[in-house]
Amino acid sequence: MTFFDMHCHMLCGVDDGASSPEMMYQMLEAAYADGTRAVCLTPHFSPYLFGNTSEQVGAVFGELREYAARQHPDLELFLGNELGYYSGCERALNEGTCRHLGESRYILVDFPGDVSFFELRADVENLMRRGYRVVLAHPERYPCLSHKLSWVRTFIDDGGLVQVDASAPTGADGPGAKSLWKKLIQKHLVHVVSSDGHNLTTRPPILSPCLPYLEKYCSPEEIAALTFGNADRILHDRPVLQFD
Ligand SMILES: [Fe+2]
Repeated sequence: MTFFDMHCHMLCGVDDGASSPEMMYQMLEAAYADGTRAVCLTPHFSPYLFGNTSEQVGAVFGELREYAARQHPDLELFLGNELGYYSGCERALNEGTCRHLGESRYILVDFPGDVSFFELRADVENLMRRGYRVVLAHPERYPCLSHKLSWVRTFIDDGGLVQVDASAPTGADGPGAKSLWKKLIQKHLVHVVSSDGHNLTTRPPILSPCLPYLEKYCSPEEIAALTFGNADRILHDRPVLQFD
């Protein structure tokens, strides 16, 4: 099985992901060993937490790309960001300091775990109204959505996409995330499963642990879309497959 990991924090020294070049390369090796053959690097874009890392991100990405080209020519790398939503973030998106997913129109957006439903809905809808194609990062980690799956359906109907973390069904992100992950998958409200890998131990950049859970609820075609095909479609700006 081969994977496309569309959300991970391997780039070193730019957020709370890899903390050294050695760790960055080891994370890439761990992903490759797990079957990953395409990665979109998505460091946090949260100026209040990490400063403006845009140039540094570009430089470190260049280093990782050189390493990957030498070690694994069959591994494809893309660059994006995980935008921690804040009021006025459109400016960073328009200026390009906060990156879209590759060259696509899609942006990966996350919120604090304790965000309220009304705040999340208003902020997501604000971005969509302004023409951004929003991929909502790991909604299973937002308790406010546990009884708002009808809104998630509306969000998808309006063109939004949903990415969940591969670690959640194992319980690694807590019982609430595990339960909501299962509900989202069962109702086919997910387009992409990614690692959201931050390190080699507690949050590794691997996808295979979620496969037994996906197999319970999804056809082989849907699993292929969730773990590779839809991420590939997003990065090439094409419509994703939706299963009902
Ligand atoms: Fe993340």
